[in-house]
Amino acid sequence: MLVMKNLVSEQELLVQRNYSKKCEEILKNMFIDRQPVCYVHSYGCQGNVSDGEKIKGMLAKMGYGISDSAQGADLAIFNTCAIRENAQDRVFGNLGMLIHYKKSNPGMLIGLCGCMVQQEHVAKKIAKVFPGVNLIFGTHVIHKLPEFIYNILSEKRRICDIPDSDGVIVEGLPVVRESRIKASVPISFGCNNFCSYCIVPHVKGRERSRDFFSIYNEVKSLVDGGFKEIMLLGQNVNSYGNDLDGGVNFSYLLSKINDIDGDFRIRFMTSHPKDATAELIDTMASCGKICKHLHLPVQCGSDKILGLMNRKYNIEQYLKIVEYARKKIPNISLTSDIIVGFPGETYSDFKKTLNLIKSVKYSSLFMFIFSPRKGTAACSMSDPVASEEKVRWLRELIDCQNEISEEVHKSYVGRAQRVLFDGAFRADCGMITGRTDTNLVVNCKANGAKIGDFADVKIIRSSRMALEGELI
Ligand code: 5AD
Ligand code: SF4
Repeated sequence: MLVMKNLVSEQELLVQRNYSKKCEEILKNMFIDRQPVCYVHSYGCQGNVSDGEKIKGMLAKMGYGISDSAQGADLAIFNTCAIRENAQDRVFGNLGMLIHYKKSNPGMLIGLCGCMVQQEHVAKKIAKVFPGVNLIFGTHVIHKLPEFIYNILSEKRRICDIPDSDGVIVEGLPVVRESRIKASVPISFGCNNFCSYCIVPHVKGRERSRDFFSIYNEVKSLVDGGFKEIMLLGQNVNSYGNDLDGGVNFSYLLSKINDIDGDFRIRFMTSHPKDATAELIDTMASCGKICKHLHLPVQCGSDKILGLMNRKYNIEQYLKIVEYARKKIPNISLTSDIIVGFPGETYSDFKKTLNLIKSVKYSSLFMFIFSPRKGTAACSMSDPVASEEKVRWLRELIDCQNEISEEVHKSYVGRAQRVLFDGAFRADCGMITGRTDTNLVVNCKANGAKIGDFADVKIIRSSRMALEGELI
């Protein structure tokens, strides 16, 4: 078998499994008449949620029950996000709440991990301002959680471990999944793109792809276990395999996963436009299980700003791939991320973003105001536009996109769609909710359909937010 250079060794994982067993012993002696419970909350992207599932998996192995409430938990862990300042503010606010719970439950342990604490200045601040936090660990040592918990339980000392690293790959950690229908499978970690606004490469390390067979086998066992939707995750799935020997790329991975037997669908995110190829679109068009939805973050409609953002494509190139996708897959749904108010952006640059979204007609957008992140290139760029002005631009963008979403949704009325039901919607009146292949929300009278079923649905009404359908 190929030895991957950043793969955490089997010996290291064995050491951690031994710590896990020791934690289990200690906890059994500490909690004689009940099971200890933990609460884990992940902020931010789906990659973080996936890490959170592994954290829960490791804690369950140690003997913790999983609670969905921090109040009354014996251990609470926040897996944090650093992408924008408001993500961090939210963590600080909720950390105050944990500290409050700890006052009435002094034995409670509090841990913080993830992107926010991987930034040294933030970790230092937390350690100083919040003496009630027992554990702070960075993004590259999640697999060492059993060792951290053991040291805290046995030595009653505080742990702060935030090594600087290009990043590791850990295979085979236990997982407690959030859903029994949809599963996320990371295919790569970290990022090499250094978009000038983005903190991710600074906190998640260099891009590293998981071994093809590890991904394939994980997906196969999920499908065999009844999962209906597999979400392949990476900061840039399109560069999957660039760092592997053996010539695998993302299209190859997709086509092999598509060949796995079973009734399931495949989604993926995120696609960097600079690496979105005709081969990717051809693979989407020819593989029946791949959802016809492409999240292709453009960030901005102005070439000048895209250059400052270090995005490595221009709008002409972006529109070429959009045009090719629409030609090959006429019903494809496109979504995107937009940053408003990047340093140096003028209203005329912003107008170009408005024109772009009017011409592409995304089904939905994630829209953000630029948030300076310490250590990124954009943080030191001159940024003269007042924040009130940026808020006005964002409002204008949201209004424009709302009209487009409404129009896109209207075009579905009268059409049949295959829907995967993934949740109850007003269970009291028998409604169930799901998503189309193109990732639009559909609400529908259940009439016997259950969560986890695929069904053909005729769309009868639409709104800006969702579609309404009836079972065919
Ligand atoms: N400010 C605002 N938005 C940001 N994003 C990433 N970094 C920042 C930042 N500093 C947005 C981008 C990215 C999405 C996940 O978050 O649009 O695609
Ligand atoms: Fe951030 Fe750009 Fe990497 Fe996405 S591709 S994680 S925006 S640096």
